[in-house]
Amino acid sequence: MRIAVPAETQGTETRVAVTPETVRKFIGLGADVAVEKGAGLASGITDADYQAAGATTAKNAKEALKGADIVLKVRRPAESELAGLPPGALVIGIMDPYGNEDAVAGLAKANVAAFAMELMPRITRAQAMDVLSSQANLAGYRAVIDGAAEYGRALPMMMTAAGTVPAAKIFIMGVGVAGLQAIATARRLGAIVTATDVRPATKEQVESLGAKFLAVEDEEFKQAQTAGGYAKEMSAEYQAKQAELTAGHIAKQDIVITTALIPGRPAPKLITAAMVESMKPGSVIIDLAVERGGNCELAKPGEIVTTLNGVKIVGHLNVPGRLPATSSSLYAKNLFAFVETLIDKAEKKLAVNWDDELVKATALTRDGAVVHPNFAPKA
Ligand code: NAI
Repeated sequence: MRIAVPAETQGTETRVAVTPETVRKFIGLGADVAVEKGAGLASGITDADYQAAGATTAKNAKEALKGADIVLKVRRPAESELAGLPPGALVIGIMDPYGNEDAVAGLAKANVAAFAMELMPRITRAQAMDVLSSQANLAGYRAVIDGAAEYGRALPMMMTAAGTVPAAKIFIMGVGVAGLQAIATARRLGAIVTATDVRPATKEQVESLGAKFLAVEDEEFKQAQTAGGYAKEMSAEYQAKQAELTAGHIAKQDIVITTALIPGRPAPKLITAAMVESMKPGSVIIDLAVERGGNCELAKPGEIVTTLNGVKIVGHLNVPGRLPATSSSLYAKNLFAFVETLIDKAEKKLAVNWDDELVKATALTRDGAVVHPNFAPKA
């Protein structure tokens, strides 16, 4: 059983799919692990670190992939990588399949069994495999650090001989995994924190972290959470009431961090150009939803925009990748937890149970076809 880890090919990707810790665990399950030269460097892991854990170093992707049964990736293989994938291999990573049906079809054509880690069901058994949570948690933390770095003032209140520095006001919009970590981080740094969401369950979570909750709590709010725990897309009337409530609040904030998402939909627009205009010069908006269209009307993917009134709108891409060592470490553990379920430990060989609910939920392609119902080509 051979596991291959080619280097990531997307320029902005700093993460890597295995760490020395998970290499040791894979070897413990009877696997050989080949890691492409330099694959871990951006995460602070050298080839020698991998070798010390028992992996071999392949001089290029082709050599790493030779004879591989399992290919571990952070991102979906690019089109240029498809020809190099061993037919029949399991290819596991963050596949970003929504809106990329052609790329999914390409994986089928390459005759690999591709698995999308982000489709893992959020059930107790799969908690250790939940890449959305492991990465969103770090993004929420990093958003506060990035906000603090862009903000020209201190976050905590300081009483000094030269005068008192007021505490910064930070508003978190969207309180899922990322938002909760952002609240906790901002509180630790001494900011005055408020937060909003459309799911009623978040109110208690926000308050338990010592922040103040602000939301339009009408009948629609009471029904806003789906059975899966996600938010619904809110009606135009709700959005108008929400904008009215938050507009005055945003005008008084120093840093606003937005994380609001709706599965399979563009991110809801929560901050209009007029709201940005109302903010004080030097204020900062961190838009974590920028890759899905953005929560702030003026956010630009991959850019820091400074408006005419001096507000910075930060649209960093791949925010978990801004903490590569930590995000790789957690991501690699998520992958190990899943791959372990695909291996027969007594026989030390691959044994995928295609009827397992985790496999069914994440498998995109198999035997040359797209097998996931959400991404099957339209007839
Ligand atoms: P997400 O990334 O899909 O969305 C982020 C947040 O934005 C959510 O809290 C959502 O309610 C909020 N949002 C959406 N539209 C909004 C709007 N118009 N205004 C304000 N906020 C808005 O969410 P994430 O982080 O993936 O969490 C989703 C749910 O999954 C939560 O209920 C969370 O507790 C749950 N969860 C369960 C896990 C498990 O059981 N294993 C693991 C992780 C999360």
